[in-house]
Amino acid sequence: MVVTDLDSVMHVEHRANTHGWRRQTFVDCIERQHECWVVDEPFTQAYTVAHAILEFGVDHAELMNISVDPSQQGRGIGRMLLEHMLHRSRTRPIETVFLDVRVSNHRAIKLYESLGFQQLSVRKDYYQHEKHGREDGYVLALQIYTRPNGETAELSS
Ligand SMILES: CC(C)(COP(=O)(O)OP(=O)(O)OC[C@H]1O[C@@H](n2cnc3c(N)ncnc32)[C@H](O)[C@@H]1OP(=O)(O)O)[C@@H](O)C(=O)NCCC(=O)NCCS
Repeated sequence: MVVTDLDSVMHVEHRANTHGWRRQTFVDCIERQHECWVVDEPFTQAYTVAHAILEFGVDHAELMNISVDPSQQGRGIGRMLLEHMLHRSRTRPIETVFLDVRVSNHRAIKLYESLGFQQLSVRKDYYQHEKHGREDGYVLALQIYTRPNGETAELSS
């Protein structure tokens, strides 16, 4: 993802999410050199149809955003992009990938669980809900590295 992608990224962001990110948040992610990836429309490559952002900490990564344009959902793009982000995680010395997801987002939860993510905790009223005030979120985690001595990293949200 580069700044010139952002018109098309914002288009996807607001079609895919009820409370999408502001443009400046994407600019900040690019400037901070997070892993910021887009999927181009396959035929013309004139605009993007999906994006994902991964932030790295000392020993963990956080999937901050993954969004596929509604017209392209259900075609395997989300799975491909998530697998790519996990591959990027494995190129760094980190142990765990975390993410937050709305409890009502069954499609995303199914995708994450199919790739091995497990529920770690619940964040009460973490999200603004389109109609009902607030909504809980799950913290999911995927352990991608186990230390040679067999210890596992301590999971914490
Ligand atoms: C969640 C999201 C990224 C998935 O992307 P996608 O391209 O639609 O997903 P895929 O086509 O790769 O499908 C991946 C899995 O999602 C699940 N899934 C896809 N379509 C589904 C549907 N209609 N109903 C239930 N589960 C579905 C399935 O588990 C599917 O697994 P499969 O590959 O074995 O069929 C996409 O729906 C999206 O952008 N949603 C809005 C933004 C969002 O919620 N982001 C996540 C925030 S935590």
